[in-house]
Amino acid sequence: VEVWARHELDDNRDRLDLVVIGLGYVGLPLAQQAIRRGLAVAGYDLDADAVEGLNLGSSRVDDLSDADVSEMVASGFFATCVESVIGRADAVVICVPTPLDEASGPDLSAVLGATEAIARHLHSGQLVVLESTTYPGTTEDVVRPILERDGRIVGRDFYLAYSPERIDPGNPEFGVANIPKVVGGCDEASTRAAADLYGRFVEQVVEVKGTREAEMSKLLENTYRHVNIALVNEMAIFCHDLGVDLWEVIRAAGTKPFGFQAFYPGPGVGGHCIPIDPNYLSYKVRSLGYPFRFVELAQEISARMPSYVVDRIVWNLNERELPVRGTRILLLGVTYKKNIADDRESPVLQIAEKLLGMGADLEYHDPFIEAYEVGGSTLRSVEHYLEATGEAALTVFLQDHDAYDLDNLARSAKAVLDCRGRMEGPRVELL
Ligand SMILES: NC(=O)c1ccc[n+]([C@@H]2O[C@H](COP(=O)([O-])OP(=O)(O)OC[C@H]3O[C@@H](n4cnc5c(N)ncnc54)[C@H](O)[C@@H]3O)[C@@H](O)[C@H]2O)c1
Repeated sequence: VEVWARHELDDNRDRLDLVVIGLGYVGLPLAQQAIRRGLAVAGYDLDADAVEGLNLGSSRVDDLSDADVSEMVASGFFATCVESVIGRADAVVICVPTPLDEASGPDLSAVLGATEAIARHLHSGQLVVLESTTYPGTTEDVVRPILERDGRIVGRDFYLAYSPERIDPGNPEFGVANIPKVVGGCDEASTRAAADLYGRFVEQVVEVKGTREAEMSKLLENTYRHVNIALVNEMAIFCHDLGVDLWEVIRAAGTKPFGFQAFYPGPGVGGHCIPIDPNYLSYKVRSLGYPFRFVELAQEISARMPSYVVDRIVWNLNERELPVRGTRILLLGVTYKKNIADDRESPVLQIAEKLLGMGADLEYHDPFIEAYEVGGSTLRSVEHYLEATGEAALTVFLQDHDAYDLDNLARSAKAVLDCRGRMEGPRVELL
């Protein structure tokens, strides 16, 4: 806490180009890229431990190393829990979480909190951009009224825009700099101001006619993935029953040079985007009095996948006259996505809980997750997965982290249920 307090005192009078609100998977890489291009940037976050850690050069997201954060700090970046920092910036970008509430509807409390903080420090000419994924209308109907409350008017006293966050954690090819940035403002001046800001550190800015179009473009992208993943998940279930190798089918269809994009089945959808964002859209559509059937269907199908994987585990063991109870089962890879340490909303948790509930002698390995909370108990990642796979009656391959030696795995395992379609061999069964 002292660390940020000191920064606060040192820089109290300096202007900043940008304050990023919410220093997580989205906000930190954004701040990093802006700093690399020479902008003066600070971060505001409610999490005091995270703030202190960042100022001491310790990263909290996969895409940035400690060295990256130290480099940012050396270039003048600082994080703070003191909201008055917002008042020192020409632009403020909101990158706070947008989860679901208990009724699976949008939980905008972090966006509201961040907007209220901005309203307390908003100054003339300041640009505010919302990046958090949300339903169309949030910027206009939720954020704008709070900022205009004291008689200020957008386009005259300040600028307001939406620009969807499109980061793909763990993707070495595409990051903040080279993913085109869509921006849509409440008015032309706001679109211009936001385009100017991003144009300083992002290669390509795509202007759209308004905030709603910008909000919806992100939801179209995620819904498109969501629906297509559900499509292949549903196909995986009946292809198995029909005796068709769907992985081979996708490989074949993928050779068509146009009109087809390959999606692959898996143990369910996870993370902070695919299982959550389309709910924001279906919530909004439902308010019109009718459902968004594609999204709801996709949700239903993908939500079935963890139990389907458990069924396949049971069948696999059954063939060998093994009960689940007391049998050693090894889960490989528990994160929702390959090569990152993020297990938010991972469907693997449901699989693990079911197997534990059935009395399985459950083990897991993940190079990124040392300890795993499952149904009230804490499991620890086994040290040597190749050894463990030779001892388990069944290895369930759930996430294809690059660290896994697939040939060796297929050879060492007693039996594998490969939910990623990556292995072959006499003891390998594909999802
Ligand atoms: N992670 C991704 O891959 C990804 C990709 C695309 C879009 N998004 C979207 O981006 C948004 C942010 O996601 P994230 O993954 O970066 O979240 P995160 O949980 O990694 O980080 C969010 C940060 O915001 C802070 N915060 C919460 N409320 C705050 C407030 N009122 N004021 C200041 N700070 C506050 C939290 O302490 C946390 O540090 C979400 O809308 C998400 O859907 C995420």
